[in-house]
Amino acid sequence: MTRQIGPIDACVFDAYGTLFDVAAAAARCRDDLHGKADQLADVWRLKQLQYTWLRSLMRRYVDFTQVTGDALDYALAAVGIDDPPLRERLMALYMELDAYPEVPEMLRRLRAGGLKTGILTNGSPKMIDAAVASAGLGDLLDAVLTVDPLGIYKPDPSVYRLALDRFGVPVERIAFMSSNAWDAAAAADFGMTVVWVNRFGQPPERLPGTPVAELTSLEALPELFGV
Ligand code: LAC
Repeated sequence: MTRQIGPIDACVFDAYGTLFDVAAAAARCRDDLHGKADQLADVWRLKQLQYTWLRSLMRRYVDFTQVTGDALDYALAAVGIDDPPLRERLMALYMELDAYPEVPEMLRRLRAGGLKTGILTNGSPKMIDAAVASAGLGDLLDAVLTVDPLGIYKPDPSVYRLALDRFGVPVERIAFMSSNAWDAAAAADFGMTVVWVNRFGQPPERLPGTPVAELTSLEALPELFGV
């Protein structure tokens, strides 16, 4: 296969929205959410991200499990639902989100092609370990890196440095894949070779840092690297 970008040594993935479907928890409770599942999922995700940025600026880190719960509380209030057992169910489902269907085979192909694989996520160790285990991805990943030891969230440059320190290769030989355009921009600005997985048909962010390629899912990723 012809390589279209690279050469690279390691493929590092954002987790939520990129490998794991963040809308899956609300979708599984669709009947109990009375027509509000999609709205809830959107507000939940948006608030979750906003709280990571705001807490980083405020220097008031709490882990991603706490941020996710706070964002869910906001989202439930925003759609007018007060149902503590449903809240607990949504949080439990968030701990075992579905991986997107193409993910296991894509990781297998990358590794068969001699590339290292890893996750670089805001997720707390507890959350990301549970998601990786429930999706059966553990054997397909060389590293699972979380912001938790740093106490600050993406897009702080120190987060992207975690992958550089772990893999010990020149920054441009690390490919970073994210469905979050702002995360893709920040990793590109840091110097990584970035593929934006534009699953949701969004326009590009107007931020420093430009991805070298754009895909709509991860299915064609191995071809980009010629494996
Ligand atoms: C993560 C969020 C940003 O996994 O999706 O880091």
